[in-house]
This record gives sequence, C-alpha cells and structure tokens, in this order.
Amino acid sequence: MKGVRFEPLASGHIAQILEIEKVSHGSPWHERSFQNELSHAHSVFVVALKGTDVVGYAGVWILADEAHVTTIAVQPELRGQGLGRELMDEVLARSAERGAVCSTLEVRAGNEAAIHLYESMGYVRAGLRKGYYPDNKEDAVVMWLHQLEKK
Ligand SMILES: CC(C)(COP(=O)(O)OP(=O)(O)OC[C@H]1O[C@@H](n2cnc3c(N)ncnc32)[C@H](O)[C@@H]1OP(=O)(O)O)[C@@H](O)C(=O)NCCC(=O)NCCS
Repeated sequence: MKGVRFEPLASGHIAQILEIEKVSHGSPWHERSFQNELSHAHSVFVVALKGTDVVGYAGVWILADEAHVTTIAVQPELRGQGLGRELMDEVLARSAERGAVCSTLEVRAGNEAAIHLYESMGYVRAGLRKGYYPDNKEDAVVMWLHQLEKK
C-alpha cells in the first residue's frame, strides 16, 4: 500500500496495536502478549506504519521449519486495499529468511475475509478443530501453505 512501510515490532508500537486489536478479534490479545513477542526467541512480528501511525501487524512463531501465524490485523478503515496480503507476504518472507519452509495457521470458520486472503496465497484447508474458540465455541479451520517462496 502506498506510503506504508514495514518494521519489526517495537515497544512504542504496542499502544496503537491494542486499539486495532480490540476492534479486530473476538478474543483480543492483552498488552503482555505483545510485550512477550519482543523477546520471544521464535517470534517474527511485523508492523505496518504510515508515518508514525500503526495501520496493521502480523506475527508468526517459527517452530522447527514451520511458520505458525499467530495474529494478523489491519486497521478497519484500510481493509480491502491489499495491506493484509502485503503483511502476510512480509512476515512470511522474513520467516523464510529465518529458515521456515512452510506455514500453518488456524482461522475462525466464519472469517470469510481471512480465509479468502489465505486461500489466495496458496494455503489449503487441512482440518477442523470443533468448538476451538472459547469465546463463542466457533470451529477453527486449520490451514497449511506447504512451500514458502523466498524473496
Ligand atoms: C483478515 C484481514 C487481515 C485482511 O486484511 P485486508 O487488508 O482487508 O486484506 P486484503 O485487502 O489484502 O485482501 C486480501 C484478499 O482477501 C480478500 N478479502 C478481503 N476482505 C474480504 C472480505 N470482507 N470478504 C471476502 N474477501 C475479502 C480480498 O479480496 C483479497 O483477495 P484477492 O487477493 O483474491 O483479491 C482483515 O480483514 C482484518 O484485519 N480482519 C480482522 C482480524 C482478523 O480476522 N484476522 C485474521 C485472524 S485468523
């Protein structure tokens, strides 16, 4: 997206991230979860910035050679303009540089926007975890991207 740059997560981003987080997820992460990402040895976490404004973020944990997507969100006013896709490309490219060769994630079965995004990137449905999400007992779709591209 024009005017957007990507940076690794820093503690100064977290207050703005929390504003996006609380309007994006049924079970939002607390501040401590984002703080933990700063020192987590397996974390790759990218923030999208427009000037000094945080407009999106995406994180993975690299476990063995797998990039597990832990979170992604785009500021609501900027959705549907390609930024979610750019964030995924960015965090997966950085994961590939750290040795990941494939990626997996869980997504709420009713989250059509996210599932469309992942399928458009080549993720395929690999299973269903019934009643996985504690807040509303929604099922989780497990998805895999079997081969990451290197930049
Ligand atoms: C999921 C999310 C990150 C997508 O970000 P975005 O910037 O809107 O996505 P993009 O504009 O890059 O769109 C990517 C693809 O998804 C599709 N898409 C986006 N919003 C959609 C919607 N509401 N319905 C259907 N498809 C949608 C786009 O058409 C695009 O597909 P294409 O490349 O085939 O055209 C964003 O909707 C969001 O922050 N949602 C709340 C948090 C969330 O649900 N995170 C995922 C948890 S697993």
